[in-house]
Amino acid sequence: MQDFQYQNGTLYCEGVSLDAIAEKVGTPFFAYSHQTLTRQIRAYKDAFAEVPHLIAFAVKANANIAVLKLFGNEGGGADIVSGGELHRALAAGIDPKKLVFAGVGKTKPEMAAALRAGILMFNIESSQELTALDETAKEMGVKAPVALRVNPNVNPNTHPYISTGLKKSKFGIEIKQAVAEYHLAARLSHIKVVGIHSHIGSQLTEVKPFVDALQLISDLIDGLRAQNMDIQYWDIGGGLGITYNAESPPLPKDMADAILPLLKKSGCHIILEPGRSLTGNAGVLVTRVIYTKEGEAKSFVVVDAGMNDLIRPSLYQAYHAIQPVLENHRGKKVVDVVGPICESGDFLAQDRELPEAMPGELLAVMSAGAYAFTMTSNYNARPRPPEILVHGTSFDIIRARETMDDLLRGEQIPEILTSPKD
Ligand code: LLP
Repeated sequence: MQDFQYQNGTLYCEGVSLDAIAEKVGTPFFAYSHQTLTRQIRAYKDAFAEVPHLIAFAVKANANIAVLKLFGNEGGGADIVSGGELHRALAAGIDPKKLVFAGVGKTKPEMAAALRAGILMFNIESSQELTALDETAKEMGVKAPVALRVNPNVNPNTHPYISTGLKKSKFGIEIKQAVAEYHLAARLSHIKVVGIHSHIGSQLTEVKPFVDALQLISDLIDGLRAQNMDIQYWDIGGGLGITYNAESPPLPKDMADAILPLLKKSGCHIILEPGRSLTGNAGVLVTRVIYTKEGEAKSFVVVDAGMNDLIRPSLYQAYHAIQPVLENHRGKKVVDVVGPICESGDFLAQDRELPEAMPGELLAVMSAGAYAFTMTSNYNARPRPPEILVHGTSFDIIRARETMDDLLRGEQIPEILTSPKD
């Protein structure tokens, strides 16, 4: 993580020490590097410069409106999957003509909101959804621009929970069914076919699954065009992995080198939907050690961030590197780093060798810029941490720490409980 380096024994994000941020905002907190975010989107822009393209950042990876705005300033758009993500993208000032809307369960009100905003296209995942969109567009007197999400049945060799392009997956339309579905789309009066979409999974560490999947889609595009379908946009999804531990995933340039011939041949406007590779290594979660504890079989470092703040280790057995914010030269020790939540599954690392940590010290949980804050919850009535954007030697709070009152927002005690009759 290039922009997170030690300077005189203290871990910095760009030109700001993480303990200076802790001093100001308390712990735990998320900090993102403006420079990394900018470098990552520019790496995609440069890699795909030879084809007309749109980088539609997958909002689910990091939905903070400041992050969306930063990508918007770089010419990026957004891949959204809900009315809420639409609202966020619009609030960040993203051009609606740069929004693509995916997801298996879009509701009619969500479709209507996206039609009102005038988004670029809907990535449709089933015939019922197609019909619902046609009905919604008809009621509004507009035509809905559509791509079908096709499932190429290619194994991305990643964690099963984040593989999406296999036959047994709930996502997309089976490639064998695709032509029939396009014919249905073409028959519907308020649908306009404009493109094709696929996304095979996340945290991919090789280019071959992309090439295999996109080859199949390329053949399908030829077949569809032969039947007069107007495929102008080819959305190739996201999925490029990052280094959490020892992985060496391809760079956007490696991916581009492998697939550009196919993309160019299509003459399509290319849409990319990267999430993790834009923000994952742009962020850390900083937490403070509360106690250390010697169990009979294990040693524990109890910290003030838990699975409600970063669920990836508990949910996917994901590895996140952990580094002390202040370097120390104590011996190493094998520990579990655990949170304060009342669940055995509440850990940030298990059986991890770390320099011995002392109560009060700060630890940085690395690679926490994607699927980290967006997957937080208030479990155990824990307010969500703040998010910080570092830019050079200064930083801004881009989301305040939740307050105790935020925890109660929207809740009410009904009268039957305040003046019970019996
Ligand atoms: N496009 C679609 C249609 C997607 O479903 C996803 C991710 C992306 C793009 C972005 O994929 P990326 O470039 O980030 O790999 N919570 C999991 C990851 C879930 C990914 C869901 N879909 C995790 O923490 O690993």
